[in-house]
Amino acid sequence: MAIIVCPKCEKKHSVNLDTIKENVPFGKNIAARCKSCGHKFPVALDMLFDQDKKHPDEPKTTLRKICVTLSKGGVGKTTTSVNLSAGLALAGYKVLLVDTDTQGQSSYILGTKPRAGLTELLTKELSPEECIIRARKNLWLLSGGKSLAGVKRIIDRKSFGAEWTLSEALKDLDYRYDYVIIDTAPGWDQLIVNVLFYATEVLVPMALEVMPLQGLAEFMKSLGSIQKYRKEIVLKYIVPTFMDTRVKSPEVIYSQLKKLYPEYLCTPIRYSESLSEAPSYGKTIFEFAPGSTATADYRELVRKVSQDNAALI
Ligand SMILES: Nc1ncnc2c1ncn2[C@@H]1O[C@H](COP(=O)(O)OP(=O)(O)O)[C@@H](O)[C@H]1O
Ligand SMILES: [Mg+2]
Repeated sequence: MAIIVCPKCEKKHSVNLDTIKENVPFGKNIAARCKSCGHKFPVALDMLFDQDKKHPDEPKTTLRKICVTLSKGGVGKTTTSVNLSAGLALAGYKVLLVDTDTQGQSSYILGTKPRAGLTELLTKELSPEECIIRARKNLWLLSGGKSLAGVKRIIDRKSFGAEWTLSEALKDLDYRYDYVIIDTAPGWDQLIVNVLFYATEVLVPMALEVMPLQGLAEFMKSLGSIQKYRKEIVLKYIVPTFMDTRVKSPEVIYSQLKKLYPEYLCTPIRYSESLSEAPSYGKTIFEFAPGSTATADYRELVRKVSQDNAALI
């Protein structure tokens, strides 16, 4: 299957590529008529077949390790980590969500009560099977929590190789997944350094409020200091959060971001009450409010990250 979007009314239509392959001679292009508004438009066949190649049913590509981070708290890191993971899982990918925050919010949002998590994996007290829980279909969780504070002290005391502790703990299990998404705590400590030595892609959520650009500039400096030792880690996505379309200032910040970071900027996650309500029900946004703007926005983020335009349609 592939998706054709009407250029006039923007309605998305799914099409069966097998039928097209059978009926259209090789090298010939086709025209489509939108079932919704009746508009007739040309369709580039090679782009359609490219879409098909990126579908999750195809042989798996290599594992992607994405960390969600910014030193500032309350910007939507945990909300984005959980809902991006849940969305990728719904799209058919196998996802491991790793919570590296002492607050341990991810398990609460997913309505689970794991008996063990990242702490026990890092201290090797328990086996990976005992630490990782299955939170949903295709979605596994390595939970965070208070006990991580003790782990940080252990990492701090290591005389060498401290920054690789997380990578070593995950190296024999991460091949089981298509994505490892890592949520981080605010601030800057040894555990975040460990995350940046493990992940290869950084997703920065940015609350569109006063002076978010300053927070980003500071983070880019810290990231630069890691990149000196680990070239693989790169900024891939900036996700504006708390986008309030009723007031003007977020729009202004958004257009500044667009000028400064056009290659990283994603469609914003709008302000939505549903996002703050869903956690107390132990539900992801896809379960709690499937018709909400927040679900539409996180769906869009899933498509952007997976480069799969047909995901979750
Ligand atoms: N787009 C949004 N609209 C409304 N509330 C949001 C949105 N994103 C996050 N929230 C709420 O804001 C608070 C902080 O978000 P959270 O994801 O915990 O941030 P962080 O992990 O960066 O500290 C939470 O209560 C969350 O439910
Ligand atoms: Mg958080």
